[in-house]
Amino acid sequence: MCGRWQTALSIACEPLIQSDVALAGRTWFRLGGSAQNFCAPNDVAELRNALHWARSKNVPVRVLGGGANLLVRDGSLGGLVISLSQPAFCGVSFDGDRVKVGAGVDLMHLSRDCSYDGLAGLECLAGIPGTVGGAIAMNAGGRFGSIGDTVERVRLIDRAGVIVDRDSRDMCFAYRQSALEDRIVLEAVLKLRQEPVDEVKRRYQDNWRFKKDSQPLAAHSAGCIFKNPEGDVAGRLIDRAGLKGFSRGRARVSEIHGNFIVADEGATASDVLEVLEYVRETVLKKTGVRLETEIDVW
Ligand code: EPU
Repeated sequence: MCGRWQTALSIACEPLIQSDVALAGRTWFRLGGSAQNFCAPNDVAELRNALHWARSKNVPVRVLGGGANLLVRDGSLGGLVISLSQPAFCGVSFDGDRVKVGAGVDLMHLSRDCSYDGLAGLECLAGIPGTVGGAIAMNAGGRFGSIGDTVERVRLIDRAGVIVDRDSRDMCFAYRQSALEDRIVLEAVLKLRQEPVDEVKRRYQDNWRFKKDSQPLAAHSAGCIFKNPEGDVAGRLIDRAGLKGFSRGRARVSEIHGNFIVADEGATASDVLEVLEYVRETVLKKTGVRLETEIDVW
């Protein structure tokens, strides 16, 4: 092949990687540092290129979903951050009571739209923020159910760029976990149920109201910070330990729900981490229970 064509080919394969991209605005906490390398691929081919780029540089890859369950530390984050926010990863198509959804689809919109169309199964996720990919990775949910309950199959890509399909059993969904390992969700087929619209809508609205009444939704937070320990509730343990309102810098334990840390204007990731570790230590001292973090900390 002549040199000119080789050059053209290598340019076409070069992933579109941006440097020093601020992440605060992409997280629900609205704080934290920036990604040294950031890529929002336009399609699977570009995603593969980005993964190959990371492998060739031997740097870690992190996938940014809706930034809802995430704390980004202050400063500069090494490696590559990938966001599947481009239209190729945000498709939604219905086939009877099944819906095929891309990893980048907004979970709150999906659960509302399905519930208002009389497709039951996602009303338990009312008001839970994030993307479908992030939700599947951690089997997002609440006291009314989890997304894993509806998953029929998932299409994944591994770090070498190989695409595999997995059914729900292979994903081993459990409380806030799945067997995703270091693969990335591309899309999923969810199996819902057709039920009278009024009933599904009412359940959705009840769940949403419950969330609004019991959680500090107007504040900047990452939802529940800790997983519920076996047989107990993290929020209750934190509440009973007298930690509501405890603060460091501009971050504090919510007065509304003990398992939320809220970040006031000017808070840093270090403030949040100090509150988090103080809460963990205090609950351990007072109850003997070591709380496990639910959020991702980058
Ligand atoms: N409670 C207290 N004090 C508090 C908070 C809660 O005593 O400060 C008590 C409540 O009164 C209730 C019990 O603890 O009796 C359970 O509380 P809640 O119903 O709020 O449920 P949760 O277990 O704290 C879970 C999920 C939430 C989800 C809700 C509702 C986890 C860690 N949390 O909260 O998910 O929204 O159920 O479905 O599983 C999230 O994962 O980010 C999240 C917010």
